[in-house]
Amino acid sequence: MCGIIGIVGLEPVAGHLVDALKRLEYRGYDSAGVATLESGSHLARRRAEGKLRNLEARLAKEPLAGLIGIGHTRWATHGAPTEANAHPHATSRVAVVHNGIIENFRELRAELEAKGQVFATETDSEAVPQMVDWYMGQGDAPATAVAKTLKRLTGAFALAFLFPGHDDLIIGARRGSPLAVGWGEGEMFLGSDAIALAPFTDRVAYLEEGDWVEITRASATIHDETDAVVERPIAIVSAAAFQVDRGNYRHFMAKEIHEQPEVIGHTLAHFLDLAGSTVRLPNPTAFDWAKLDRLSIVACGTAYYAGLVAKYWFEQFARLPVEIDVASEFRYREPPLPKNGLALFVSQSGETADTLASLRYCKAEGQHTASVVNVKTSTIARESEAIFPTLAGPEIGVASTKAFTCQLSVLASLAIAAGRARGVLTRDDEIRLVRALGDLPGLIARVLRLEPKIEKLAREIAKATDVLYLGRGSAYPIALEGALKLKEISYIHAEGYAAGELKHGPIALIDEAMPVVVIAPHDKLFEKTVSNMQEVAARGGRIVLVTDERGAAAAGVETLETIVMPDAPDLVAPMIYALPVQMLAYHTAVFMGTDVDQPRNLAKSVTVE
Ligand code: G6P
Repeated sequence: MCGIIGIVGLEPVAGHLVDALKRLEYRGYDSAGVATLESGSHLARRRAEGKLRNLEARLAKEPLAGLIGIGHTRWATHGAPTEANAHPHATSRVAVVHNGIIENFRELRAELEAKGQVFATETDSEAVPQMVDWYMGQGDAPATAVAKTLKRLTGAFALAFLFPGHDDLIIGARRGSPLAVGWGEGEMFLGSDAIALAPFTDRVAYLEEGDWVEITRASATIHDETDAVVERPIAIVSAAAFQVDRGNYRHFMAKEIHEQPEVIGHTLAHFLDLAGSTVRLPNPTAFDWAKLDRLSIVACGTAYYAGLVAKYWFEQFARLPVEIDVASEFRYREPPLPKNGLALFVSQSGETADTLASLRYCKAEGQHTASVVNVKTSTIARESEAIFPTLAGPEIGVASTKAFTCQLSVLASLAIAAGRARGVLTRDDEIRLVRALGDLPGLIARVLRLEPKIEKLAREIAKATDVLYLGRGSAYPIALEGALKLKEISYIHAEGYAAGELKHGPIALIDEAMPVVVIAPHDKLFEKTVSNMQEVAARGGRIVLVTDERGAAAAGVETLETIVMPDAPDLVAPMIYALPVQMLAYHTAVFMGTDVDQPRNLAKSVTVE
C-alpha cells in the first residue's frame, strides 16, 4: 500500500523524505514523489514512475532545498502508475499525498468540475486537493478547508497536506489507514508508521480513527472527527521496532526466514511457561473457552493459511467447531453467528481492510473478538477484545515468512489452552504438547541447514512454468502456502491442493514438465499421501517429496528430490514444513532474478478492498 511521510524540518528535507520512503518500500509501490516549499513559499514537486532510484535520479538533476515537505510511494489503484498520477497531487494552494481510497471521488469530481476546478489526473486522490483548493479559494484558512473537506470524503484513507506560503504547517488526517506523528527537536514528522520515522525520532503518537493533526516545528495539535482538540498518548518506540536493516542478507525475505528460530522462541516465551510445561496466555480473556459454541477464524492471504492450520488444532485438541473463511468473503456473506461465539482474526499488519471490516461485523453481531497480530498498535489490535501478539518483529519482505510461523506458534498455544479449558486435553497432553512447542526453535534451526540442498533444487523448479503442491491434514494448508509463496515471488504458476482432491481434477495436468511438491510428514495420513504420489509417478510426474526419515524410507516412489526433515511431533510439523517451501520459493525467485522483497503488483499491507 502507499506510504506517507511529512517533515517540518530545520534543514533541507528532500533527502530525508526519500530515506523515509525507502523504509516504507516494504509496503509495495509503483511510483513515488516528493513536494517541498522552496524559499518557504513556492511549491516544487519531483515525481517518478517505478522505484525510488528513479526519483533519486530526478532529484539529483533537479535538487530541492526546501525545509518542509511531504513524500509518497504510490501503489496504483485508480489510474496507471505514471508520473502524472504519482503523488503529491497539487493545485496552486495545496499539495496532497494520499493512502487508501476516496470512494465518492466521482461525485466530488463532478461537483468540483461544475464549480470550475480543473483536474489534472485520473486518480481518486485528486478530489482531495481540489476540494481543499476550492474552500481556500472561498477564503478559508488551510485547517478550516481541510476540516470541511474531510467531512465530505467517504472511504478509508490517510492524508498529508502541504500549503504554499505556509512554511510551518503540514496537516495530516487518518481514517482507516494508519498515520503516526513523530516529535523531534524543533522538527515534527508524519509517517505511515514508526518505521518511516525511525531515523528521526522514537517519540511517536498514533492518530485515532477520524483524527486530523496540524503539525508545526514546535507543536502538534490533534483534532478528533468532530474537530475538537484532543490529546493522544506519545509512546517511545522501542529500538527493536526499528530493526529494519538487511544485515548480511541479500534480501529481507532471506533475513526473515533465518530469524525464525529466534522470533518463534520469543513468541512462544510469551505464551508458554516452559519450565512448568503449561500454556500461560498473556492477556486475561473476557471469554471462557469452555463456554464457546463456535470459533470463527477470519484472515487474508498467508494469515488465512495459518488460520486453516489452526482449524485442525482447535477441532482436534478442543473439539471446538471452527468455521474459517477469507475475510473478503466472510464480511459480505454476513454469516449468522452463535451467541457464545469467538471470532479470531489473524493479521500480520493488523490493518488489512477486509479483515478489519469482518472484525467490526463480528463485534456488531455480539461475538467475542480476539486477534493474532504482529503490529500491536494496529487498528485490528486496538479494536479487538483480546490481543495475542506475534513477536516476529517488523516483517519487511512482502511475502510473509516469519510472521506466518509466529502466527502458527500463537495459534497452537491458544488451541492447547482451549483444549485444557474444555477438558479435552489432559494435563499430560498439555505437558507433551508444550514441550513439543518448546523444542520448535531448535528444530527450525536444523531445518535451515537444509538450505544448500533446497537452493540446488530451486534451479530445477525455476525451469518449470507450473508447479503443484499437495498435502493432507495440517500439511494441506502448508501446500497452499507453498504454492502462494512460489507464485508471489517467482511468478511461476503454482497451485496447492488437498492430496485427496488430486483425482478430482489436477491429475489431468500431470506430465514430465510439472514438478509436484508433496508435503508429507510420516503421520497417520502418510499412507494415503503415498497413494497419491504413486498416481503422480505412474503418469510420469516429477515428485519433490518433503518428509522425515521414516517417510523417506517408506515412500517407495522415485523422486526428483527428497528433502528429509527432522522427526517432529505432529503438532509442530506445520511450522517446520513451512520452511522448506519458503526457502524453495525464495531461491527459485533469486534464480529467476525477480524483485524478491517487493514482487510486482503486491503490497505488504492491503488497506483497501
Ligand atoms: C498481503 C500480503 C500477504 C499477507 C496478506 C494479509 O497480501 O502480501 O503477505 O498474508 O496481505 O495481510 P495481513 O497483514 O492481514 O496478515
